Amino acid sequence: MCGIVGYLGDTEAAPVIFESLKRLEYRGYDSYGFATLKNKEFFIKKGEGKISDASIQNLSRGLPGFMGVGHSRWATHGKVSAENSHPHTDCNGDFLVVHNGIIENYQELRKELKVKGHRFRSDTDTEIIPHLIEEYSELGFEDAVKKAVSRLKGRYAIVTLSRESDKIIGVRRGSPLIVGVKNNVKDSSKGSGKGLSKKRKEYFLASDIPAFLKHTSNVMYLDDEEMVVIDRTGRGIKFYSMENGKEIEKRIVNIGWDPGQAEKNGFEHFMLKEIMEQKDTIRMAINQNMEDIERISKDIKNAFGTFFTGCGTAGNVCLAGEYIFSKVAGKHINFIVSSEFPNYHHFMTDKTLLIAISQSGETADLLEAIEAAKKKHVRIISLVNVMGSSLDRKSDHSFLINAGPEKAVASTKAATSQLALVTLLAYACAGKLDEGRRLLIETASKVNDMINPRYEKHIRGLAEKIHSKENMYIIGRSLNYPMALESAIKIQEVSYIHAQGFAGGELKHGPLALIDKGTPCIALVANDEVKNDIISNAVEIKSRGGYIIGVAPENNEVFDYWIKVPDVGNASPIVNIIPIQILAYHLAILRGHDPDYPKNLAKSVTVK
Ligand code: AGP
Ligand code: GLU
Repeated sequence: MCGIVGYLGDTEAAPVIFESLKRLEYRGYDSYGFATLKNKEFFIKKGEGKISDASIQNLSRGLPGFMGVGHSRWATHGKVSAENSHPHTDCNGDFLVVHNGIIENYQELRKELKVKGHRFRSDTDTEIIPHLIEEYSELGFEDAVKKAVSRLKGRYAIVTLSRESDKIIGVRRGSPLIVGVKNNVKDSSKGSGKGLSKKRKEYFLASDIPAFLKHTSNVMYLDDEEMVVIDRTGRGIKFYSMENGKEIEKRIVNIGWDPGQAEKNGFEHFMLKEIMEQKDTIRMAINQNMEDIERISKDIKNAFGTFFTGCGTAGNVCLAGEYIFSKVAGKHINFIVSSEFPNYHHFMTDKTLLIAISQSGETADLLEAIEAAKKKHVRIISLVNVMGSSLDRKSDHSFLINAGPEKAVASTKAATSQLALVTLLAYACAGKLDEGRRLLIETASKVNDMINPRYEKHIRGLAEKIHSKENMYIIGRSLNYPMALESAIKIQEVSYIHAQGFAGGELKHGPLALIDKGTPCIALVANDEVKNDIISNAVEIKSRGGYIIGVAPENNEVFDYWIKVPDVGNASPIVNIIPIQILAYHLAILRGHDPDYPKNLAKSVTVK
């Protein structure tokens, strides 16, 4: 998970790395570290906690040089401590590495290296990498990295520096690593890089684009099994295949995101900003090439076995997709959560179609599912937010959901954009694309009207009533059953209230025993064929003392608190989840938690 950054340019590296890393903090925030290189000397600083709690002045002091690396950690191997935070070095401090991912064979490599006399200072899997580079150092930096990496098993991205060289090297296998390139046309004599040529390029290496978006939106993508070497002396960049060692040509792509999209823009938290952006993002999600929509929906219709896969919130969207396709297009699509997909591949063939849904496109479980499917020659269609992400690049066709960067750990706008696009595809599959578009355009406009300060205040009022409760339950049926599951994730992850979602009909089979006087229970209601059933389930809960919160187009006498949502037919999952996102946000605030950085979590789950 973690965020890694590298910088090589004409300004002091430390402040650039600090700023970039702050923008990646959503990926991991238990500890951090920086290193710069100047005159063949490394300068290293590490700390525990969130990087944004540290002072840039204090950190930048004593970190000279125009190239360096940074790391924001989400510990997998070794407790959270300064010793375990990255960068890690070899015995002599000649090589230094920041790493995202897991080295699966680190125990055997560590034993082997110890026998050879290497001394380890941390408990991490990462530390074996600089020691391996040291072991092969007589090959020269580039070849030593290649050789070291060939010994590693697992998924990872690394960025490494050598004290003796002016190069920064990145390697990608399964975890994201992107290069940002800025054509430096400014007069660099104004900065601290006096005397350097005016048009030299600046390079950024990062786990995600928002890290360097303030500087450039021009990116060069590394694929898995590729290495990038950026040379300060010649200010050149080269890419190599790790499989055959050959140089690879790459082009620069403009990502088309503007830097403001990755900032808070006056909001206190990214989560609230991203919830509010749903005024626009649903419309942007359905702004697709309609020929592609028609073509792919035909493929879905004709495929011999179609599956959805995704994790967490994206998984809940998949389940909603299963219902939507069944209801709208009469097409059965099976949802399999990505972490279980590799155990479920037995009957896939080259006629099977897999629809993968992901915000980041970098979730390790999902990428493993894709690999398992590809081995069976399954065709991959993806709905993804991040252009150029691993999922985007591994798919036979991707639809970008156009939601802009999503930085809060809790997925909000990406989820509703994914729901909108799945709904559009289902309508297209039923031969009713125009009807689907009309419905979603109308939904987007109703969401725009719905999200206003008065609405937020009404939901805040509910949060004030229930924020001290420790248990909450959410029920839904049909299209809103997956949204009950999604509501539970939202509430759990930011407020730490124990929340569980159920299909309305399931409560009487067990969970009803959990209801006590005043237990908050949310009923997600739409004007559909299951409306009376879900209301009956709410009555059953109320009869046992439950406090009923109705999210519904119309009020009902069973509701103790009513949150109105527009009546948008089959698009009801989109409008029903939004008030729950707002509720989760305010529950977190009232309970004193930072909703952008929930404990134990990270935005992109790039480890298995
Ligand atoms: C969402 O609120 C969660 N933080 C999480 O479940 C997330 O949706 C999941 O990890 C999948 O991420 P992805 O969409 O980037 O693949
Ligand atoms: N496995 C490494 C560690 O525990 C990297 C974890 C990460 O990706 O943040 O330090």
